Amino acid sequence: MPARIFLDNAATTPLDPTVLAAMTEVMADTYGNPSSIHAEGRKARSLIEAARKTVANALNCSIGEVFFTSGGTEANNMALKNAVRDLGVTRIISSPLEHHCVLHSLDAIQATGAATVEQVRIDALGHVDLEDLAQRLNSDDDRKTLVSLMHANNEIGNLLPLEEVAILCADAGALFHCDTVQTMGYYPLDLAATRVNFLSGSAHKFYGPKGVGFVYIRNENIIKPYLDGGAQERNMRGGTENIYGIVGLATALERALLEQDDRMVKMHDLKRYFVDQLRQRVPDVRFNGDTERSHAKVLSVSFPESPKGDLLLMNLDLNGISASGGSACSSGIDVGSHVVGHLHPESLRHTIRFSFSHHNTREEVDEVVRKLGGML
Ligand SMILES: Cc1ncc(COP(=O)(O)O)c(C=O)c1O
Repeated sequence: MPARIFLDNAATTPLDPTVLAAMTEVMADTYGNPSSIHAEGRKARSLIEAARKTVANALNCSIGEVFFTSGGTEANNMALKNAVRDLGVTRIISSPLEHHCVLHSLDAIQATGAATVEQVRIDALGHVDLEDLAQRLNSDDDRKTLVSLMHANNEIGNLLPLEEVAILCADAGALFHCDTVQTMGYYPLDLAATRVNFLSGSAHKFYGPKGVGFVYIRNENIIKPYLDGGAQERNMRGGTENIYGIVGLATALERALLEQDDRMVKMHDLKRYFVDQLRQRVPDVRFNGDTERSHAKVLSVSFPESPKGDLLLMNLDLNGISASGGSACSSGIDVGSHVVGHLHPESLRHTIRFSFSHHNTREEVDEVVRKLGGML
């Protein structure tokens, strides 16, 4: 079978071999419960704490601010729901383009009546309108406010000017939650310099294992347990830790930072090359969002209407090319993306999200463009 071309790296990334090696070593040798006080337990505990230190170093924060979770969804749920429950937040400003784990958490919060949610204006390219955000933050509304905006959009890639938003929030006395699931390991983050109250990471987006992530909670934001149980994660999240996953996450993050510049150069090159090739070969192609101020990893493309277009994603798959119709939740069944739908309510067209990794090559892009030619 010819090798497949995987262009769905915003949905997930393959496990890095060094991560697999680190994880299997722990699986083979470390079976202690990290809460036990004997030698086996202490060994397991030391691995978790070393991993926490790796994450804290990567973000330039303190180890007491990093809590391991089951992934990005849990990290975002925890930040948003605990901010309302424990920090007196009664007003949330967010955007209609957030990931479903944020949108649905906000729906759930709103349904309890504990806080109201308002949406910032999005401009024609899919960026947050910072003037609108500033106006909302500086209005006479004196309710305790949390801003929840993602760093990079998982469907169109648009990047938020994180520092600017952090300053706007800090100046207005608002808390700031940033969903950094797509950018963690790809773009530098310095939490000593940038004032964010909550952010999230998920290992499987940066060549680590699935089912493990973390939430950063700024020291001054004292919240109560998210999962009641034992004293794990300093009482914040009961339950025996996913030690192999946590070691895998830290190994993957360390490697992502080490190789960050090289990986980003490769992905930027692939994205630009793909855009150029599609512009030359597909008349009337549309790129959703801002192809310039966006994550090097993500490219959302809408193809002109055609009778064969509905089957585009399936045809790509049959031709050995993996891409997505929107976010991972909808890949396979093209139900239409809420992000592209917001930007282009008049027509979703046949939209495909291609997302790159440093493993992809220009030859693969050539092959995809060639095969697409016969499918439109
Ligand atoms: C922007 C964003 N936030 C959150 C998540 C959820 O992360 P996880 O799959 O680890 O729950 C994803 C995953 O697709 C994402 O892209």
